[in-house]
Amino acid sequence: MFLTVEGVEGSGKSTLLTALAVRLEARGTTVLRTREPGGCPLGARLRPLLLSADWTPDPNAELFLFLADRAQHVAEVIRPALAAGAHVLCDRYADSTIAYQGYGRGMDLEWLQRLNDCATGGLWPDLTLVLDLPAEAGLLRAARRNEAQGLSQTEGRFEAESLAFHERIRQGFLDRARRFPGRFRVLDAALPPPALADQAWAALRMGAH
Ligand code: TYD
Repeated sequence: MFLTVEGVEGSGKSTLLTALAVRLEARGTTVLRTREPGGCPLGARLRPLLLSADWTPDPNAELFLFLADRAQHVAEVIRPALAAGAHVLCDRYADSTIAYQGYGRGMDLEWLQRLNDCATGGLWPDLTLVLDLPAEAGLLRAARRNEAQGLSQTEGRFEAESLAFHERIRQGFLDRARRFPGRFRVLDAALPPPALADQAWAALRMGAH
């Protein structure tokens, strides 16, 4: 089972993933929790570059760095874990490229779909949870979190984009969910974390059987 969680900044993906991992492990399932960018050694080196607020990459360079991270991550981490029978829980994946580089930066959506197919060898999640939240509310949450963790300078490049950019991302995820209703579930990220975890758990149990 390959599950991804997507959403705007500050939508609560990590908290939800922790809750799901705890529930899965409690019923004896092997869980591999990972993230993009940064879920493999190459990605760990690319992540600071991709998120650093002190440069502005060319959009194509940015895209290909995310895709390089994904190709290596799929080959080295995700496929072997799935082959070993683990449930893979991934914080962001190919749909983030379509939302951010496509809806956000204006790159062609079909082209991005094909590039993701190339990078992943056609591996798409069994289930994708979109944590939906107005972009403004998410950015506020992310700013508080970054401040608490001292990340504003080192990981703030996307948070520093305009509100309109982040609203396009939100709409991008919602469009994707409408287009692929079999794979996506949209959840209300404004729910209290335990209620959100209950809804995600129900979606996962339906998606996993
Ligand atoms: P991350 O820390 O995962 O996001 P969050 O702050 O929501 O927890 O940061 C990853 C950033 O990279 C996020 O702003 C979205 C962006 N991104 C892309 O633009 N394209 C991609 O393909 C991926 C995976 C992420």
